[in-house]
Order: sequence, then C-alpha cells, then structure tokens
Amino acid sequence: MDILQVQGSGKLEGEVTSSGAKNAMTKLLVASLLSDKRCTFYNVPNIGDVQITVSLCEEIGSKVSWDKEAGVLEIRTKELKTSYIPQRFSGANRIPILMAGALLGRTNDDIIIPTVGGDAIGKRSVDFHIEALTKLGAQVEYREMKKEGAYLVHAHNGLTGTHIELPFPSVGATENAILAGVRARGNTVIKNAATEPEIVDLILFLQKLGAIIFLDVDRTIHIEGTTTSHEVEHTVLTDRIEAASFGMAAIATKGRVFVKKAQHPHMITFLNKIREIGGGFSVKSDGIEFFYQGPLKGGAHIETDVHPGFMTDWQQPYAVLLTQACGTSVIHETVYENRFGYTRALNEMGADIELFCECLGGKNCRYKERHFEHSIIVKGRTPLKGGEINIPDLRAGFAYVMAALIAEGESTINGMHFLDRGYGDLVPKLQALGANIKRIQTKPDTKPRKLISPHKKNHELAKTPS
Ligand code: EPU
Repeated sequence: MDILQVQGSGKLEGEVTSSGAKNAMTKLLVASLLSDKRCTFYNVPNIGDVQITVSLCEEIGSKVSWDKEAGVLEIRTKELKTSYIPQRFSGANRIPILMAGALLGRTNDDIIIPTVGGDAIGKRSVDFHIEALTKLGAQVEYREMKKEGAYLVHAHNGLTGTHIELPFPSVGATENAILAGVRARGNTVIKNAATEPEIVDLILFLQKLGAIIFLDVDRTIHIEGTTTSHEVEHTVLTDRIEAASFGMAAIATKGRVFVKKAQHPHMITFLNKIREIGGGFSVKSDGIEFFYQGPLKGGAHIETDVHPGFMTDWQQPYAVLLTQACGTSVIHETVYENRFGYTRALNEMGADIELFCECLGGKNCRYKERHFEHSIIVKGRTPLKGGEINIPDLRAGFAYVMAALIAEGESTINGMHFLDRGYGDLVPKLQALGANIKRIQTKPDTKPRKLISPHKKNHELAKTPS
C-alpha cells in the first residue's frame, strides 16, 4: 500500500491537462455492452476505476485494447461469455449495479450482480435502481451468497418501456434506467432524472450507438426502445472534479495553474464560488487558468446539490480553501448524509471546522432533523501544520493532499489507493507543477485489492487492507 510524502508551503505553478471523467468513462464502458459492435473511446483516464470496469467487462466476454499512454481504448463484446459477475467485484466500486441495466438490455438469461461499494460517504443504497428496473419488467431479488450478498436479476421475456419517476435525481439510478430503457420494447420516460454532464455524455454515446433518446425540460428523459447498434467513436468529456481540484490547489498554494481542457460550461457554479471568496480565474479557449490574487475572503455559503448545483465532489477541497479565507463560511451537504468525516483530520492539522446535524441553509434537504452531521462551519484563516493523515475516501484524499501542500512541515498521507481510483498520474502531475511530493511504495501489492465496503464507517476505512 503506497503512501505519499508531502513537504508543504510551495506554490503550484505551470500547466496541467485535465483527464477524461471517471464518472463518465466507467459508465460508457458499461453502455458499450448493449452492442456487439466496436466502440472506440478517446481521452480515457488511466485510473483505477476504469481498470476495474475493464476487468468487469472482460469477465463477461468483452475484448479490450487500451493504449494508456494515448488514452485510447477499444472495446467489443461480440457475445456474452456469461452474465454472472463474480463475487470478487463485490464492493469494488459503484459500477457493478449498472451492469444490471446493460445486461438486461443484452440477454434474457439470469444475471448475477454482486453488492456494490464505492466511497463510504453515506448509506448509498440502490433502491431507486431496483425500483426502476422492476418497473421496466425485470425481476430483482437480493440473496445472501457465501460471503456477501448478490442481486439475482432477469427479464426472461424482455423489458417493456414504462414511466419511471425517481424519488431523487440519482446519477446511478438514472444511468441504470437509461441503459435498460434503450433495449426495452416501446417508450420509456424517466422523470426527476439526473442531468449531470456525465449523463449527457452517456446519452450522446448511446445516440451514436443507435438509441433514440433525448433529454427534455424538467429533468425528463425520453427513450424509444430499439435493437439497432452501430460502431461508435467517442471522446470522453473532461473530468470537472479533477479540473476543479487542480484549480483549488493552485489558489490555496498562492500559485497560478492553467488547467488545460477544463470545460467552462460544466464549471459555472464552481467558478462563481471561486470568485465569491476572491480566488482568481481566467477562461481561455482551451482551458481555465486559476490563480491567487490576494487574501481570500470568508463569508461563503455553499449548499451542495445535483447538477447544475455545487457538486458534492467539490466541497472537500473547497473546505480546505475556506480554511485559508479570512472569515466564517458554511457548507451544507444535501446529497450525502455522511461526507464530512474528513474534516476531523483537517482540525488536527490546525483547521477550525465545526460539524452540525442541522441544515445550515435553506435548500430542501433529505437529512433535515435526521441527526446526520451534514453541515459545517469553517473559520479562517488558520495556518495548517503537517502530520500523518489516513485517507477515508477519494475526494477527501485530494483535500488532504491540498492541505499538506499548504501546511508547514512534512505530511505523510496513507491510502494512496483511494486517489488512484480517480486521479490519474496525480503525483507526476503535481511534481510538474512544482509540488514537493513523493510516492513511496511500502509493500508491493500482490493480490487484487478489494476496495471498501459501503457499510464500513469512515474511521474504519483508513484501516481497510489493500
Ligand atoms: N440514493 C438512494 N438510493 C438509490 C440511489 C441513490 O438513496 O438507489 C441516494 C444516495 O445514497 C445519495 C444520493 O441518492 O445520497 C445520490 O446518489 P447518486 O445515485 O446520485 O450517486 P452515485 O451514482 O452513487 C455518482 C458519482 C459520485 C457522485 C454522485 C453525485 C459515480 C461512479 N459516482 O454516484 O462520485 O458524488 O454521483 O453526483 O458516478 C466520486 O467521484 O468521488 C463520487 C463519489
């Protein structure tokens, strides 16, 4: 399990190219299973979650060739070898459950899907996925297997289009319903759907593949079922989380970084919040430059939300930025109930962050009066000092790297495998910007890592074996 050693107090300066989006590429690979034709992807990020998804696809019969240097990946699933996803993928990430929608579109046979994992930032149940697939005519049953549970899924007579109304615009449930709806007989309408740019990227890919699908007003997606498949070439959209992460790191370290390929249209809300605290940015034709232009002002109020709101995946590095802003700021997390556990380590580094169960904001929040610590007050400016930190999840991991970069002294960060899931070449990219950061291999990884399980608590995660 590798660790990071970071020497703080240096500016980040230079240019970094943002990679393709993790939360698009993994779904696009799953979507390619709907077809027996070749799909070629460009701008593919070289990250752990894509590798896991490639392995999942290969397991069921896909032939994949991936030039990691060039970021080009070709996948073709001429026929399914099996529709049973092995238990070893249980808890690997959020992707296995999406295989249900795609495989239902490809086969009438029984499908077995192990339980899903992903970062332990809330309960992260899959009830909306199951309700949507059931409405389309699938039978879904949860069964305890030898060690972990699994979903047994089938639609022996195929799927039939239907009206689905999601209780919350869940990204994953929308994707699952789309994947299944593409091959259902007749029309499917998904109301209260998620409309994140990564979902639009999925729709663009599926349209190239032959689907008849469009995003209507009021979060409604219409799909006309079809059996058509075409070969597809698709350039994956830029990772707006990675782009924002580098932007915030530039400002926090009082530096200047041009984030090549950062997409302005996907970062409107984020950029407003950067401007609000006095951070500098300049939108260029092929990216966005972020820079420090004087002391940051506190007084910010963030409420995370579904698109086009402030992303829940931006709030962790933003909280670090707020520790360096003069004044009091508030973040109200409305997407996940348990996404502030990481702030405890920041306090140990010198931050002044208080957690609250109350909704500190006016947005309609599912966690109102439910005793989840889902709001924080950050008081700044507080100098940070280096220390030993355990990463609890992917985005908290980047926040810790950022904190270590601005802290006085040296920090040791354990849990590099969390960062590998979503930030490709993080260490060389930061080194090229002047960061004093080293990756140290403590013990070679000999067996495939089973990532975290969704029911583990944050404090247990740091101990998750690799
Ligand atoms: N939810 C349910 N039931 C469901 C599905 C979701 O209650 O059946 C709840 C979740 O518990 C959560 C909320 O709805 O509280 C939102 O979940 P959503 O389904 O939208 O999230 P996801 O699809 O599991 C994706 C990203 C996350 C990102 C969220 C929100 C992937 C692989 N993951 O997760 O990304 O935070 O959407 O935008 O696409 C990350 O990249 O670090 C990450 C966590």
